[in-house]
Amino acid sequence: MSDFHALKIAAVDSLTSNSVALTFEIPESLKDTFVFDAGQYITLKHQINGEEVRRAYSISSAPSSGKLTVGIKKVPNGTFSVYANEHMACGDVTEVMPPEGRFVFEKSKAAKQVMAFAAGSGITPIMSIAQTVLESNTENTFVLVFGNQTPDETMYRNALVQLQEKYADRFFIQWVYSRSSEPDCLFGRIETSTVNLITKNKFKDTAFDAYYLCGPEEMITIVSDTLKNNEVSEDKIFFELFTGTETEDTLAEDLEGKTKLEVLVDDETFSIVMDKKELVLDAVLKKNIDAPYSCQGGVCSSCIARVTEGKAEMVKNQILTDGEVAEGLILTCQAHPTTPTLKVDYDDV
Ligand code: FES
Repeated sequence: MSDFHALKIAAVDSLTSNSVALTFEIPESLKDTFVFDAGQYITLKHQINGEEVRRAYSISSAPSSGKLTVGIKKVPNGTFSVYANEHMACGDVTEVMPPEGRFVFEKSKAAKQVMAFAAGSGITPIMSIAQTVLESNTENTFVLVFGNQTPDETMYRNALVQLQEKYADRFFIQWVYSRSSEPDCLFGRIETSTVNLITKNKFKDTAFDAYYLCGPEEMITIVSDTLKNNEVSEDKIFFELFTGTETEDTLAEDLEGKTKLEVLVDDETFSIVMDKKELVLDAVLKKNIDAPYSCQGGVCSSCIARVTEGKAEMVKNQILTDGEVAEGLILTCQAHPTTPTLKVDYDDV
């Protein structure tokens, strides 16, 4: 299931003083495997200081470009992001999982008016979505509200300016800076007043078909709540979290005792006994079962499985809808078994 492929890095481009874009070379034989939709991500795997480290990064290139590029911002004390920024070079080989993710823009024949709110490295999937929206229909428009600390720290700033020049009448950017006052830009963070200014004032006469939100949880919550308060229906709001929350929900269940866990992955069944206090994915990985995963923080959705018998409870879930949870899907990196037996199926999701 975790079908990683060794890909060579074809280009490393500096985006800002603390972020880079890595472009991978896709051999002809893997072209179909790495076809992607705008907004999806890939998981990278690399040995760093003797340890295997996996991280998920959104694809910033448009599917039409024929390129597979991710933007990686250095996270203070981060492992993968620091290594990628400081050590990865053209010609290096790293393991890459095929694209996944449900934060996608699907092209359609009808004209689409799309708005996006992004903060920091949350721009990466939005880059791909914006290009795809703009090039797929000459009637499409795209409004981007993009928050950063300063212009110099803004990933893909030049590329966005070029895109704005190319689609001058259909692509609008509202820059927002929290540490720098700039002409025609908003000062501060993206907050309720920003959303109201853009939706109820600047673009009050446009009926938007979709809203894409990508960045830290706080921004996503504020923007999404404000849109909903302004009568935007929930099914038009799509979001991708870029950082998990530190706070965990408390579990209703008492987690004493053991569970017999049966795991179906890649048509193979494994049986293990695990402590209920353990997370399902941790127990599975400890037995070297090749289950899919990436962030291990409830953010990326790689580790989804279906519960086919028994029950599990998640400590955190910001990805699965109530309907998906009701039909038995769980994020295994966030789930504890709560019954003596639990069967999960990674194949049927
Ligand atoms: S591994 Fe990313 S959500 Fe579970």
